[in-house]
Amino acid sequence: MTMRVAIISAEAVPYSKTGGLGDVAGALPKALKAVGVDPLLITPCYWQTKGEYLWNIAIDDLWVTWKGRPYHAKAFYSEANGSPTFLIDAPSIFHRDSIYGYTEDYERFAFLSHAALALLRRIGGAPDIVHLNDWHTGFAAVELASRRHGEDYWRRTRTVFSIHNMAYQGGFGIGQLPELGFTSQFARNAFSFNGYASAMKAGLEVSDTLSTVSKRYSQEIQTGEFGYGLDWLTRKRADRLIGITNGVDYEVWNPAADPELPAHFSADDLVGKTDCKKALLEQFKLPVDLDKPVFAIVTRLTVQKGVELIRQCAGDILALGAYFIALGSGEGESERFLQALRDYAPSQVGVYVGYNEKLAHLIEAGADMFLMPSKFEPCGLNQMYSLRYGTVPIVRAVGGLDDTVQNWDAVTQTGNGFKFGPYRADKLIEKIYEAGFAYADKAAWRKIQRNGMSVDNSWENAARNYVDLYEWTLRN
Ligand code: ADP
Ligand code: GLC
Repeated sequence: MTMRVAIISAEAVPYSKTGGLGDVAGALPKALKAVGVDPLLITPCYWQTKGEYLWNIAIDDLWVTWKGRPYHAKAFYSEANGSPTFLIDAPSIFHRDSIYGYTEDYERFAFLSHAALALLRRIGGAPDIVHLNDWHTGFAAVELASRRHGEDYWRRTRTVFSIHNMAYQGGFGIGQLPELGFTSQFARNAFSFNGYASAMKAGLEVSDTLSTVSKRYSQEIQTGEFGYGLDWLTRKRADRLIGITNGVDYEVWNPAADPELPAHFSADDLVGKTDCKKALLEQFKLPVDLDKPVFAIVTRLTVQKGVELIRQCAGDILALGAYFIALGSGEGESERFLQALRDYAPSQVGVYVGYNEKLAHLIEAGADMFLMPSKFEPCGLNQMYSLRYGTVPIVRAVGGLDDTVQNWDAVTQTGNGFKFGPYRADKLIEKIYEAGFAYADKAAWRKIQRNGMSVDNSWENAARNYVDLYEWTLRN
């Protein structure tokens, strides 16, 4: 019988996106469908969600018990991500200037969990698996674990909880639990963490099985350095925790057909990449010297992404005579740093502060090197996009970066990028110089690019691994 999997996520492409979670939640259901699973995605309808993606109102009276009262929500239906999706419409809760960043976010996503389960109940036929993602969905893990005992409807449903980022845990006052609909001692114990309530901790504790978005990260979060206070719990549940590296949606990220690009290219014919480089330099009003390498970043500007190391090595990139192009938004200090760098060297530096999907594609295509010196990186998608676009990643050996990038070895001609270990600027600078050196040797550079472009990070593999995880979860 076909396995039915409901995936709940706070963001999903193309409906909403702030980072990789959106990419993953949007693409995984389609990939699951392709390997024979019957998937259903449930995600909020934000003010930012484009109307063209809301195909029709599937349910116009979705009643959710919220703060002790009935709340009247709706659900839109769409398949804009290539598989069945319900979008929870609750404007007073989800319509904000940005998707996250409010003190009451924990309430907003507690609501998502309640609404998602109300929706699943309403449409009938309980799923075999409810696949939860990050702290936003920890509430659903607790609710399902409690209901399973009392309600026949949920008795056979099992939960898988995927950790995309341990650094965000959805903390709030434990006194808020009853208002959110969690009154039992079981729930209190599940959420309780160091005198607070933590939705991440609850998800980790009560879900049937756990996964992370790379193998390396599944080990890292069992250590004090990466566990953010919850490493004791991931160690305790290590026998139920596995790592599955995210895939790349090659329908969206394919240099041979990407509609966002002025020219196309592939591993066999890289001419179009030069046209993209030219277009990229022109877009940033930089002088077009195609011999100089372009180093680039596309990122949330947060501590996680190693912006501190980038700040420390920016001068060395300029000293190489190279270009540096940055697309990012986040911490004000980093945004100001980038703007000041551009003002200092306007003929070498291009900066776009903000979020820009189209530009992200052009940078992936037009740059020569992509920097990701992350402090921690559960998986990371941009290094995988870079590989496919012939843009050589320079990464720190951490999390998914370590699993997906192999250091170039000039003797054996193997490797697809440059990788350093310790979180130190001098180590990154060494790799920047090594990359600059390799770039000057055209044959070597083509080889590194081709090695990267031929890597298969498609969702198909990842989807099969999820199917194994679901089956394992149902057996146990
Ligand atoms: P994270 O989810 O931690 O931010 P990932 O590498 O998994 O990191 O995913 C980041 C995703 O967000 C990528 O698809 C990347 O292209 C996109 N992205 C990040 N910052 C921007 C930006 N300023 N403009 C456009 N896309 C961005
Ligand atoms: C998180 C992580 C990132 C990962 C993404 C998707 O945002 O920071 O490393 O790729 O989730 O799983």
